Amino acid sequence: MTQFAQVGVITVSDRASRGEYEDRGGPAILDYLSEVLTSPWRPVSRIVADERSLVEATLIELCDNHRCCLVITTGGTGPAVRDITPEATEAVCDKMMPGFGEAMRAVSLTKVPTAILSRQTAGIRGGSLIVNLPGQPRAIRECLDAVFPAIPYCIDLLEGPYLTTDEAKIVAFRPKK
Ligand code: MTE
Repeated sequence: MTQFAQVGVITVSDRASRGEYEDRGGPAILDYLSEVLTSPWRPVSRIVADERSLVEATLIELCDNHRCCLVITTGGTGPAVRDITPEATEAVCDKMMPGFGEAMRAVSLTKVPTAILSRQTAGIRGGSLIVNLPGQPRAIRECLDAVFPAIPYCIDLLEGPYLTTDEAKIVAFRPKK
C-alpha cells in the first residue's frame, strides 16, 4: 500500500478567513509542493483568522489528528498587533528550530529590506515539522527554496515518510551514514 505523506497548509489571515479576499498564499504553497515533491503526498488545507487559540488548535489538529509530517503556515509573522503565528507555533512545539527562520530571513533580505519584519520560525511537535512563511505570496518560493533541501532529512530524523524531490528544482541533502 502506498504511504502518502500528509502535508498541512495553513493560511493565517483575518481577511482571507472572512472571504474578503482570495487566499493566494495557500495555493502558492500547494503549487510549490506539487512541483518539488516526487514521493506521494496529500494536502490538508485550512484558512484561519489571526486568533492565537484558533491557530494553535489548527496546528494541533494537523499534527496530532492528521499526522502531517510537515505543516507550512503562511501569514501572521509580522509586527502588527494581530500577527501571532510565531507565538502560536512556539506554544504547540516541543522544540524550536531557529535555523529555519534565520535562513529564510537571510535569503529574503537579499530581495526586500522589509524581510527583517518577519518573525517567522519553525519547530517540532511530535512527528511534525512546522514551518512559518510570511503572508506575501512572492515570499513563499523565496523562503521554501532556502530551507527545502533540509526538510526531507529533518523528517527522516522524526521517523516520518521518506520524501523525495525533483532534483532539477530542489536537491534534498541527506548526510551519508
Ligand atoms: N519575505 C520575503 N521573501 N518577501 C517579502 O515580500 N515581506 C516582508 C516579510 N518577509 C516579505 C518577506 C514583510 S513586508 C512583512 S510585514 C513580514 O514578512 C511579515 O509578513 P506577514 O505578517 O504577512 O507574515
